[in-house]
Amino acid sequence: NDIRLFRQQILDWYDQSKRELPWRTVALTEPDINIRTYAVWVSEIMLQQTQVATVIGYYNKWMKRWPTVQDLAAATLEEVNQMWAGLGYYSRGKRLHEGAQKVVKEQGGKIPGTVEDLLKLPGVGRYTAGAVGSIALGQVTGLVDGNVIRVLCRVRAIGADSTSPTVTEVLWSIANTLVSPERPGDFNQAMMELGARVCTPKTPLCSVCPLQSHCLSYRKVCIKQEENSTKL
Ligand code: ADE
Repeated sequence: NDIRLFRQQILDWYDQSKRELPWRTVALTEPDINIRTYAVWVSEIMLQQTQVATVIGYYNKWMKRWPTVQDLAAATLEEVNQMWAGLGYYSRGKRLHEGAQKVVKEQGGKIPGTVEDLLKLPGVGRYTAGAVGSIALGQVTGLVDGNVIRVLCRVRAIGADSTSPTVTEVLWSIANTLVSPERPGDFNQAMMELGARVCTPKTPLCSVCPLQSHCLSYRKVCIKQEENSTKL
C-alpha cells in the first residue's frame, strides 16, 4: 500500500512537471511499435553520457536523417560518426549503427520486443534494455542509472558504496519492486527526472519532493534538526 502511494505520488508529480521531450512524444503517440522502439533506443543511447538539453538537437537531426532502423542500417560508419560529432564517446554511435545493421540483417528490420532480446544487441546493457523495454514497449521492468541510484539510496537511507556489486543488485531489485505495473515507462522516467531536477546531488529540493513522506534520509535530517532545536 505504501508502494502504491509511492507510485501515485511520483507519477502525479511527473504528470504535472515533466518536460516535453521529442522522444517522449514519440513514445506516447507513435502507433508503429518499431518506430517507437527505434526512437527510444536512439534517445537512450544519446542520453547515456550527455545532458538532455544537448541531446535534443542531436536527436532531432538524427531522426530527420535516419527516421527508421533501416535508414540507419544503410548509412556508413563515417556518416554516423559525423552526425555524432560533439556528443562524445563515439563507440555509442558505432554500436547503435551495428545494432541497426544486426536488426535488419537478422530480424528483417524488426527490433526486439522484450528486454531479454534487446540485451543481445551491441551497446545495449541492462539500463538501455530496461529503458527501451519500459518506455517504448510497456514492459514492467525497473531501471537504475546515476540519478535513480541517488534517489533510491536516499529514500532507503543506503549509506554503503553504491558502486559495489552487492548494492547495485539491491538497487535493481528495489527498482523492480517499485516500478508501476500500469505505467512502467513513465515511472522510470519520473525517477530519473526527479533525480535530475529535485533529488539533486548537492542541495536536494526536499521541500518540493513528491517522495518526501517515503524518504528515510529526509526523516533522519528532520530528527537531527528537531534535536538541535530542543537543545537550543
Ligand atoms: N535520462 C536518460 N533517459 C532519460 C529519460 N527518458 N527521461 C529522463 N531522464 C533520462
